[in-house]
Amino acid sequence: MLKTNEEIRHRIAELAAAVSDDYAGTATAENPLLLLCTLRGAVFFSADLVRSITVPIELDFLKVHSYINTESALEPVFDLGKDINVSGRHVLILEDIVDTGKTMAAVKRHFEDKGAASFRICTMLDKPERRVPQCAEIVPDYIGFTIPDLFVVGWGLDYNEKYRLLPDIMVYHPER
Ligand code: IMP
Repeated sequence: MLKTNEEIRHRIAELAAAVSDDYAGTATAENPLLLLCTLRGAVFFSADLVRSITVPIELDFLKVHSYINTESALEPVFDLGKDINVSGRHVLILEDIVDTGKTMAAVKRHFEDKGAASFRICTMLDKPERRVPQCAEIVPDYIGFTIPDLFVVGWGLDYNEKYRLLPDIMVYHPER
C-alpha cells in the first residue's frame, strides 16, 4: 500500500484549504474559480476536493489525451471539453496523476491559447521522475503526494479499467 484512505482524505482537506486561501481574493460570485476535472481518474479526488473548497466555484469535465504534431508540439485530443469557454476565467485543472506531463502540457497550451486569465494544475499524485524533457515546465501548483516511478491504482486510478474503486492507493504489480 502506498497511501491509505485516511492519509488521502487528510491530504485532500489540506489541498482544499490551500486552494481556498489562494483564490480567496480572485474567485468571486461573478467570476467563480473554474475547476476542470479530467475524466475518468480524477473524479474521485475531485468529488472530495470540491466539496471542501470554500470560494465560489464552477465545475466542468474534460476527457483528453495528447499527441505530438509534426512540429513536435503537444496537442490535446479532446473527447470532451474542447469548447469550454475559459476566456477571462481562472482555471484550475484537477488531475489524478501527472506522469510524462504530456497531457497537462497539451491542456495548458490549449486553455492558455483560449484566453484563460490564469491556469493552474492540482494533481492528487505527481511522478516527476517520469517527466519527459519537453514537459519539464509542467510543475503542478498543488500536489497531493509526490511518488516514485511506480504504476499505481486505486482512488480513481485504473489499470485497464480495473481497480478504480480500491479505497487506498496501491502499487500495481503485474506478476501478482
Ligand atoms: P501523462 O500525459 O503521461 O502525464 O499521463 C497522465 C495520465 O496517464 C494520467 O491521467 C493517467 O490516466 C495515466 N497514468 C499515468 N501514470 C499512471 C499510474 O501510475 N496509474 C494509473 N494511471 C496512470
